[in-house]
Amino acid sequence: MSKLEGRSIVLQVTGSIAAFKAAALASLLVDAGAGVQVVVSDGARRFIGDATFEGLTGRPVLSDLFERGRAHDHIRLAETADLLLLYPATANHVARLRAGAADDLIGCLFLANNFRRPYWIAPAMNSNMLAHPAVAEALTVLEGWGCRILPTGEGRLACGAVGYGRLLEPERVLELIVEALA
Ligand SMILES: Cc1cc2nc3c(=O)[nH]c(=O)nc-3n(C[C@H](O)[C@H](O)[C@H](O)COP(=O)(O)O)c2cc1C
Repeated sequence: MSKLEGRSIVLQVTGSIAAFKAAALASLLVDAGAGVQVVVSDGARRFIGDATFEGLTGRPVLSDLFERGRAHDHIRLAETADLLLLYPATANHVARLRAGAADDLIGCLFLANNFRRPYWIAPAMNSNMLAHPAVAEALTVLEGWGCRILPTGEGRLACGAVGYGRLLEPERVLELIVEALA
């Protein structure tokens, strides 16, 4: 049996240069047997198309909180998912979650879940952004509330700098999810 058969993962993607890695993760999760529902921010759509995720997961991508016929998706998804993952998590969305912002689907899902299901955050950003107190403090608060903050890798970043802030590789995230849910 596939390692994640019958498991339901909400893969939330925000607008980082590393958003392409979310497609690889969606593919790995589907191969492992999971049902994957992708939710994208407006920012994510500047980096990767919905068709990629829909093609990989076989499900329409969700984004619009007010989409007709889907008004209660944030409640349903928050109650049925085995794991909610923000991958990659931008500085913007880290700050928004910490503030309890509820004007997009990702923010509403976060609040509606209220830690009844595991909520993981995988930051991806420039090292200076990651080290900034606005981001560092928000991640500490979110961890204190019950989120699992995944580590970032060290290496060459898209901006050309070398340091921390690289998105954790999809293969490693799959391993962690299998450990947690299988
Ligand atoms: C080329 C490019 C790459 C970016 N990469 C990142 C990134 O890796 N991490 C990040 O936090 N923001 C990054 N940003 C900035 C975000 O895209 C921007 O803050 C956006 O408003 C985030 O929207 P969202 O959080 O709604 O997805 C990048 C912007 C550009 C133009």
